[in-house]
Amino acid sequence: MPPKPVLVLGAGVSGLSTGILLLQAGRPVTLWARELPPHTTSNQAAALWFPYLAKPLERVNAWAAHSLAFFRQQLLPDPASGCRPTVVHDLYAHPVAEPWWAAAAGGVYRRLDPARLPAGYRDGFETQSVVIDTSLYMDYLLAWFRRLGGELQQKDVRHIDEALAVADVVINCTGLGARQLAGDDSLYPVRGQTLKVRPNGVQHSILDDEGPNSLGYIIPRRADIVLGGTAQADDWETDPRASDREDILRKAAALHPAFAQVEILGEGVGLRPVRPSVRLEAEALPGGQQLIHNYGHGGAGFTLSWGCAQEVTQLVSS
Ligand code: BEZ
Repeated sequence: MPPKPVLVLGAGVSGLSTGILLLQAGRPVTLWARELPPHTTSNQAAALWFPYLAKPLERVNAWAAHSLAFFRQQLLPDPASGCRPTVVHDLYAHPVAEPWWAAAAGGVYRRLDPARLPAGYRDGFETQSVVIDTSLYMDYLLAWFRRLGGELQQKDVRHIDEALAVADVVINCTGLGARQLAGDDSLYPVRGQTLKVRPNGVQHSILDDEGPNSLGYIIPRRADIVLGGTAQADDWETDPRASDREDILRKAAALHPAFAQVEILGEGVGLRPVRPSVRLEAEALPGGQQLIHNYGHGGAGFTLSWGCAQEVTQLVSS
């Protein structure tokens, strides 16, 4: 029997990564999406490998570790992917035994010398991560998906039954769209605003995800530096706000003095799809159909993308 075709919903990082691994596993794949790159939520992401705002920790650690290895082996060797290695300094207001993301990083990190901590911090860790320039990477994924034979249709799906009417295997990677599509009220937006500024020589990423300048980050990329951020729950506003811009600039200057003066190149807003836990599970339906959910990745869509895509591919195979 030939392998059953699969219909993937969503062309963000989760949908495209899942489509690619399914195609590599020999499945014919069609992808339906309301928005395509560069208009997806993923395109707005700061996209640093870092398992932010996703649970449960144990599954997240495994998906994140798998993704990090995949980025290193498959994507860093090709600069056209937009992926680059970066050193990250993650800062803490109080001494901690080990960073909460230690397992995700495979235990590879070291404590920062206290002399290197900015004012207001008493602990910090350095690790090797990957930064993903979404303006290149999302197009790269799309081209990869098409090259493997994936079919793409821009389509606004209102109800999951529209998908199940045409395919026996459906993968739901619709992010916040799953609120409506899967009737999931536990899914909500956590708004993130970012700025892009002109490079100023700072080469490493700096992050405060729970200290005095939380959520604050500095993420140098090839042609700009991303500054963030905000984490506003249940806030659907997709236009940038001046008050958030001021706050982001203040936090960046507190994290590194080189950001006391910056030249702003652009700004954006993305709504993170947050849920009490990532939903990655198969729903068995009458008649042998399979609906697999892969959404709710919070601020870790890129960080979890390949690990989750691999688990979905295993669920489809079984
Ligand atoms: C964010 O969601 O804004 C984010 C997540 C991880 C690292 C940096 C930023």
